[in-house]
Amino acid sequence: MTANPDSVHGGHITGIGATRRSDSWWLSPAFVVAFIGMCFGYGTWAAFQGAHYWVGPSSGEAFGGYLSPLYSPVLLWASAAGAAPENHSWLGSFPSWWPDTILSPRSPALLILIFPGLFRFTCYYYRKAYYRAFAAAPPGCSVEGVRKGRYQGETRLFVFQNLHRYAMYTALVFNCILTYDAIQAFFYGGSFGIGVGSIVLTINATLLAFYTFGCHSLRHLIGGRLNCFTCDGTTRMGGHAWNIGTFFNERHMKIAWLSLGWVMFTDLYVRMVSTGVWTDFNTWSEPAQTAARSVGL
Ligand code: FES
Repeated sequence: MTANPDSVHGGHITGIGATRRSDSWWLSPAFVVAFIGMCFGYGTWAAFQGAHYWVGPSSGEAFGGYLSPLYSPVLLWASAAGAAPENHSWLGSFPSWWPDTILSPRSPALLILIFPGLFRFTCYYYRKAYYRAFAAAPPGCSVEGVRKGRYQGETRLFVFQNLHRYAMYTALVFNCILTYDAIQAFFYGGSFGIGVGSIVLTINATLLAFYTFGCHSLRHLIGGRLNCFTCDGTTRMGGHAWNIGTFFNERHMKIAWLSLGWVMFTDLYVRMVSTGVWTDFNTWSEPAQTAARSVGL
C-alpha cells in the first residue's frame, strides 16, 4: 500500500500493494478471505461429523423431515446420532470395508460435496474474488500484485477451471434434489405443516436456484450461443430465457455470497435442532427436536 513515487512502470506505481487509489480497495479482498475462510472451515467441520444432519419423525417411513443441504442426497448411510433414517439412502449402507479413519469417516456429506464444491470453485465470479483475495494477482484494479512470471491464464495449473460447464450440469441436478428437500420440509410424518426449518430449507433451495440461473455457462447455453433472438419461435424462446438468465447474472455476485452463507446456516439450523440446542417452532404437535433426539442412535 505504500507507494514509491520514484518507481513507475508503464504509468503505474510498482511494489506489492502499491496504488494511486485513495479508496478502501482492500476491504473487498479482506471480506473474501474472512467469509470464504469461515464458510470453508465450518463446512469442512460439519461434513466430517457424519451426524446430526437430519430432523424428522422417529419412524423414518413417512414423508417429511429436515435434511441438511451438506448431506443431500444421502448416497450411503451409516448409523449415527441425528442421522437420516436408513430408507432415505439411495444406495444402502456404507460397505463394511469402508475405512473408518479420521480422514474417511462414514459421512454421507463427503461423498457429494465435491460436486457443489467444484461448481463454486470454478464459478467465473468466485475466480475473480479468490484470485484477488488469496493470490493477490492482482489484489484489486490498479493495485500492484504479486508478479507471477509469464502469464499462462488457465491453461496449465488451473486448466480444470474449464470444467465449469460440466459442474453446472451437476448443479442443475442438485437444484432439483434440494427443491425436493424443501418440499419434504413441509411434511412431518406424512402430515403437512410448516416450521421455521421449512422456511430455512425453502430459502436455501431458492437462493441456490437463483445462483445457478445467473451462471454464465447456463446463460450461454440457454440463449447466449444464438446469433438471432427473433428469427423463429425457438430463438425467441432462447431470447426470453437469456433475458431471465441476464436478470440473475447481473446479481450473481450478491447471490453467490448470500447462497453460500445460507447453505452453512441451513446446516447449522438443522444441526442445532437435531442436537436439541435450538427449538424448531412449527405447526406439528410433536416437537421436531424431540423426535430428532429419539431417532438418534
Ligand atoms: Fe458463477 Fe457459473 S459463473 S456459477
